[in-house]
Amino acid sequence: MPAPTVILGLESSCDDTAAALVADGPEGPRILSSVVSRQTDLHAAFGGVVPEIAARAHTERLDLMVEAACDKASLGLDRVDAVAVTAGPGLIGGVMSGVMMAKGLAMGLGKPLIGVNHLAGHALTPVLTDGLAYPYLMLLVSGGHCQFLRVEAADRFIRLGGTIDDAPGEAFDKVARTLGLPQPGGPAVEAAAAAGDPARFAFPRPLSGRPGCDLSFSGLKTAVLVARDAIIAEKGGLTETDRADLCAGFQAAVADSLAEKSLQALAASPGMTAFAVAGGVAANRTIRARLSDLPGAPPFVAPPLDLCTDNAAMIAFAGLLAFQAGRRDDLTLTARPRWPLDGTAAPILGAGKRGAKA
Ligand code: KG4
Ligand code: ZN
Repeated sequence: MPAPTVILGLESSCDDTAAALVADGPEGPRILSSVVSRQTDLHAAFGGVVPEIAARAHTERLDLMVEAACDKASLGLDRVDAVAVTAGPGLIGGVMSGVMMAKGLAMGLGKPLIGVNHLAGHALTPVLTDGLAYPYLMLLVSGGHCQFLRVEAADRFIRLGGTIDDAPGEAFDKVARTLGLPQPGGPAVEAAAAAGDPARFAFPRPLSGRPGCDLSFSGLKTAVLVARDAIIAEKGGLTETDRADLCAGFQAAVADSLAEKSLQALAASPGMTAFAVAGGVAANRTIRARLSDLPGAPPFVAPPLDLCTDNAAMIAFAGLLAFQAGRRDDLTLTARPRWPLDGTAAPILGAGKRGAKA
């Protein structure tokens, strides 16, 4: 029996430094190891990711992550058949750190190098976790991404729409800051919303009723700020109930917007095998419940959370598919801050907190 193909994946496009080993054998692809070093503490004092700090931390941690991935899989680097690395889109310094590391490893090992699009990594994850068949609809919702993608093949993606301003996770983080809740804002807002009344504030559902699948969260975030200021002006401060109601109202508006536009994306995409989500915001129980229960939708698929958020297993897997399709890069591979998955779609107008992604 031939030895399975083993791909080393590296991810460093935002604030997570990650390495993973993925193998393909007779039973299909499987994750041998996947390790992530998060930088949340390094950026906490700044209220957002500081690109230079992130890039430096990636450079310091990438080799440790590679070592940890090998240790965890009990596999030496000599068993690696190719090195896959996120080559964009993302924060340029971090992407460069990863690409440099991957070039060094590929050269040292005498193995092929494969540049992977970070968004393709997210979008292909349900093939690895759930064995999804093409074509399926993917909604990416995180702090840096928000787009609907029709995944037609491992290298063919149609972008149906996305946010024209903030990513939803970014809006959760900003609303948390507005209300004095800790970062990352998503879990904090979700926890506060649990005790709140989603109907107390009539927050907008931006772009509702319009055709297409574009989304917008900036005006909603501002509406929360305006409502907060009105309460403070009237009563001199926020009570716990005010905070809970503001969070619940905001969360309900995000859930409504995502549900409405998901239905529009599905209506424009007959014959999908599944409706899949990925990204940190997919962890939100209210949002997940709405998206998993859309009328007339194909089966709902959400990969386990550690594979929904940034990780290197998704990069190794996308690299494996590219490797098997015969794609190779060489030492001219460059880091790309922008790299649309769908070269034919109109560019996204806005930018997430991690910069314009595509
Ligand atoms: O996918 P992710 O780990 O990183 C990228 O942005 O690439 O997503 C992180 C984002 C943060 O903005 C965080 O606030 C949000 O996902 N998030 C949530 C929840 N958990 C994480 N948003 C809403 N509800 C949650 N439970
Ligand atoms: Zn990501």
